[in-house]
Amino acid sequence: MKNVYGVVLAGGKGTRMGNVEKPKQFMEVGGKPIIIHTIEKFVVCQEFDKVLVLSPKQWINHTQDLIRKFIPNCDNVVVLEGGSTRNETIMNSIKYIDEQGCLDDETIIVTHDSVRPFVTHRILEENVKYAKEYGACDTVIPATDTIVESKDNQFITNIPDRSKMYQGQTPQTFRAKMLRELYNSLTEEEKTVLTDACKILVLKGEKIHLVDGEVFNIKITYPYDLRVAESLLGGEK
Ligand code: CTP
Repeated sequence: MKNVYGVVLAGGKGTRMGNVEKPKQFMEVGGKPIIIHTIEKFVVCQEFDKVLVLSPKQWINHTQDLIRKFIPNCDNVVVLEGGSTRNETIMNSIKYIDEQGCLDDETIIVTHDSVRPFVTHRILEENVKYAKEYGACDTVIPATDTIVESKDNQFITNIPDRSKMYQGQTPQTFRAKMLRELYNSLTEEEKTVLTDACKILVLKGEKIHLVDGEVFNIKITYPYDLRVAESLLGGEK
């Protein structure tokens, strides 16, 4: 038992993609669904006891069919139901580990957007390493553009020192039990303003170590990103 779980977050609807037919994680790039590219990266990595894939209820069967078709020989992938928010989806993964009787203080979850298919082996390994050492870590790249803050979305309120600014990617990796306890200690209002799982720890003053991401570890959000993803895959060939 390694006590480490890969958690592929695929519970979203992909509204910004504007595709009504299916959520973006099921759209194809390079002849394969995006979610399959992502799951493959986890399956070939030796760090995980199991890879949990969380998708919307009505897409669970489809997700299982895709995995059977594209990754036929993997026996450690489990498909579960996602939650109403990204953080609730993460909580569902922890609930599953708990129900299996496998959750203890050292259990680590490597949570990753299903729509970031270009995550690397190095990033996954470093996430596991830093989370074991520090309890939590987040994958980031240095900000390339200057970050401008506007509290009223009209006028600039601050221009922070760029050398201290980063762009958040995923994976975000945590001791699962600690994350759940901190999340449950938040008020409903605090929970609704959260956009990010690491923010749960930030609100509670917990440390999160940085892991170097990659510029190409993009999140597919808009139709434009599909074209970028296609050309990145072209470059891989
Ligand atoms: N996600 C999830 N459960 C949710 C919401 C989001 O697992 N309830 C996942 C998405 O499937 C995606 C990742 O979190 O892989 C990053 O979220 P985002 O890109 O915002 O995805 P969506 O919520 O699907 O997109 P949109 O905001 O455009 O609807």
